[in-house]
Amino acid sequence: MATSSISFDFKGQVGLIAGAGGGMGLAIGNALIEAGADVTLIDVKPKPAEIASGPGRHLYVQGDLTDEALVKRAVADTVTRFGGLDLLANTVGVIWFGRDTSAIDMDLAVWDQVMAINLKSMVITARHAVPEMKKRSKGAMVHLSSIQSLRGDIKVQEAYGASKGAIRSLSKSLAIQFAAENIRSNCILPGFIHTPMQTRMDDPATKTKFAEFVPLRRIGTAEDIANLSLFLLSDAANFITGAEFIIDGGRTALP
Ligand SMILES: NC(=O)c1ccc[n+]([C@@H]2O[C@H](COP(=O)([O-])OP(=O)(O)OC[C@H]3O[C@@H](n4cnc5c(N)ncnc54)[C@H](O)[C@@H]3O)[C@@H](O)[C@H]2O)c1
Repeated sequence: MATSSISFDFKGQVGLIAGAGGGMGLAIGNALIEAGADVTLIDVKPKPAEIASGPGRHLYVQGDLTDEALVKRAVADTVTRFGGLDLLANTVGVIWFGRDTSAIDMDLAVWDQVMAINLKSMVITARHAVPEMKKRSKGAMVHLSSIQSLRGDIKVQEAYGASKGAIRSLSKSLAIQFAAENIRSNCILPGFIHTPMQTRMDDPATKTKFAEFVPLRRIGTAEDIANLSLFLLSDAANFITGAEFIIDGGRTALP
């Protein structure tokens, strides 16, 4: 799958993609594999058929990213198989319309689950990936937040929004802590992107309606996110850390 007219060279580098069973995670994983990186992909879903065939190698781990033992094992297997770890893309996330509602009356068990999947999973992957990056004196991470973290919503998904705000804070903190060791951390804030999370966009009429709210007049693709992610993970971005990137076709620029 061609993802960009910019060509990146990630030969000799090793990546871990958390939430790579579809959508943005799979697109980032495929773009890295096509650019020569060896990549471990983790997701609770079974292995997707569309994983790129190379030139980079891949390892697929099916499991729950809130399970620290699973992540620890996946990082160890990555290092054994590919020789180290340089890159982390944290793309896991759930938005539970209807169940994730107002903080005032939502089920707090749902709050805890969303926080565990969307936020704690990113803490877990970072705490096992960073020590490996330190060994190589080099590393780069991207974490998927959302434009939802910039504002409130009339139809609230309070746990989702709060988790996405916390990811921005976590990313900056990681950036500062590990900058001296040449490990970078940046955050991506997408707008509407057509992925398995947004099945409502499968309906062409709905997709067109949502696109009317976007100055560039289209809904984003997983490849749009992969393009930005590869740039941020690459040496071309080696002076960029602790930063946030809105990628929404101009949606949040509107008054
Ligand atoms: N699609 C959008 O419009 C949009 C907008 C803003 C932000 N985002 C964020 O971008 C990121 C990627 O989303 P996407 O649109 O590619 O959605 P997606 O649903 O295709 O990808 C998320 C992946 O996370 C996996 N996952 C969920 N819980 C898991 C768990 N406990 N353990 C392991 N894997 C688990 C899912 O199986 C799925 O493959 C998410 O963090 C999402 O919140 C998406």
